[in-house]
Amino acid sequence: MLRLPLLASVYALFSTGMGTGMGMGKGMGMIAMHLQSRSSSRLTTNVLACKDVLSCSSPLMLWSTIAAHTDTMTTRTVHHITHPLVQHKLTLMRQKDRSTNNFRRLLHEISMLMAYEVTRDMPTQLIEIETPLETMQAPVIDGKKTVFVVIMRAGNGFLDGMLDVVPGARVGHVGLYRDPKSLVAVEYYFKMPHDMQNRDAIVLDPMLATGNSAVAAVERLKESSPKSIRFVCLLAAPEGLKKFHEAHPDVPVYTAAIDRQLNEHGYIVPGLGDAGDRLFGTK
Ligand code: URA
Repeated sequence: MLRLPLLASVYALFSTGMGTGMGMGKGMGMIAMHLQSRSSSRLTTNVLACKDVLSCSSPLMLWSTIAAHTDTMTTRTVHHITHPLVQHKLTLMRQKDRSTNNFRRLLHEISMLMAYEVTRDMPTQLIEIETPLETMQAPVIDGKKTVFVVIMRAGNGFLDGMLDVVPGARVGHVGLYRDPKSLVAVEYYFKMPHDMQNRDAIVLDPMLATGNSAVAAVERLKESSPKSIRFVCLLAAPEGLKKFHEAHPDVPVYTAAIDRQLNEHGYIVPGLGDAGDRLFGTK
């Protein structure tokens, strides 16, 4: 049977119009599900009609990816990372009495685990090495080609764990604050490494809430023409996902959860509160 997170996520996508009509082409009431068998590392892709998804009992277990399908298989992709370790740590982070120290450590651990998923299809190249027994061709990644783009300030909490896993990566920063009245993102800082055309950008922000900051950050980032862009968050609101993919259908989103909705202050509910405040102990 498909597991609950899949149904919840599919429901979240449908309930906001994704997968039904929102900017979709003809005959696009389809969901593309990338299902991976736990027992093998082979990735298989199923394309099912929406009504079938909700009642589907696939023998394959959902591993990590759900994609709302539009024009091509590569647009408006949402990777829902359902790994039990990620989900367990996220539950601990949501608890309101968790200490700052604990919250920070958990975010660090989750970011390492998410890095594993986000870098799953990173290109490798073969180099010749000597084992104690013989010479062989073995794959390596070129970490320097990756840029983690931190949306300040909460994105910083994601960075160290990602760098633990990809230590050679470069780091760019985008400074945005949310105008408390309009909730519009205002830029105050932007610094990227040179040669962005040769680099794959991974944008980090724990909360995809209204989507305003994420949309603005990626818009700005696109001016430097990176080779590719991915967006990683811990929690997403359906409203934020919708806005983000309306603006940037080409940028896949990786998230550990899609929560119910935004409240009137632009906070994700049930959510985990203000990620920056909880991370830095500023409230
Ligand atoms: N930013 C946060 O830190 N939390 C939310 O719920 C929304 C935006």
